[in-house]
Amino acid sequence: MRFCTSLDGEKTRPVFGGECLSIKMSEIIIRSYQPGDEPAIEAITYRTGFKGDDLTGRKYCDDAHLWFLIFIGYYTRYEPEHCFVAVEGEQVIGFICGTPDTLAQEVRFRQKVVLRAALRLFGYTSWRYPRSFKTVLGLARQYAAEPKNTENDPILTQYPAHLHINVLPGHQSQGVGTQLIRRFENHMRGLGVSGLHLGTTSKNHKAVPFYHKMGFELVEDSGIVPHAEFDDLRYLTFAKKLETLKS
Ligand SMILES: CC(C)(COP(=O)(O)OP(=O)(O)OC[C@H]1O[C@@H](n2cnc3c(N)ncnc32)[C@H](O)[C@@H]1OP(=O)(O)O)[C@@H](O)C(=O)NCCC(=O)NCCS
Repeated sequence: MRFCTSLDGEKTRPVFGGECLSIKMSEIIIRSYQPGDEPAIEAITYRTGFKGDDLTGRKYCDDAHLWFLIFIGYYTRYEPEHCFVAVEGEQVIGFICGTPDTLAQEVRFRQKVVLRAALRLFGYTSWRYPRSFKTVLGLARQYAAEPKNTENDPILTQYPAHLHINVLPGHQSQGVGTQLIRRFENHMRGLGVSGLHLGTTSKNHKAVPFYHKMGFELVEDSGIVPHAEFDDLRYLTFAKKLETLKS
């Protein structure tokens, strides 16, 4: 028997003749970020933190707070005006955050987050979660070795903004990501931003089709890079031009 699925991912009623009967669909609202949303965003970041899949129980990084600090905490703390959340009832089920100016964001990230993350890594994670320490140290070494962006970077010139988007498992593939990205694009258009970019990997089997569907094009492919968990991982950059409302 086939079932209809409600927006919270629960199977509800059987399908009769192709019609879903009296399904109670909860309304999903996209709204601006509020400081009280941070714990929910930290949890979603962790539940989607392993190339789009759940980090829970993988022994890759058990320190959920450090993971959040490194990847998302900058945006909620220092650029909250560019963060939006999807809410169902009282629950935050997804978020999008980013910056209109990647070059400036990278400078502020180094000033505001790197020291804080290093203090937690060495002062807490190292003894509390030794495996996480190894993982994050590896990522930090990789970050330190990467060439830093400059103002002549062709991707940043055309697509100066970037974003991160995550939807809680159980609520994915139901249109939430689409609503979040539309809201973010409209927000960036309103600021006069000419284009957006983002990074993902070839192993993210949900994100890659999602960005294609949302009109992003692949603008950079790293080719296969060494990785502890995968032998054929590639880093991908997707980008999209925005027609601005100010022009
Ligand atoms: C990627 C993500 C943000 C998309 O949000 P979403 O709410 O699941 O996506 P939507 O329901 O709006 O789907 C839009 C399109 O995305 C793609 N998509 C979504 N879920 C997918 C899945 N499980 N498998 C393959 N494609 C998928 C499809 O192209 C879909 O279009 P369709 O419905 O016509 O098939 C979400 O799946 C997610 O948070 N994943 C984990 C975290 C992550 O990977 N974030 C991106 C890091 S770069």
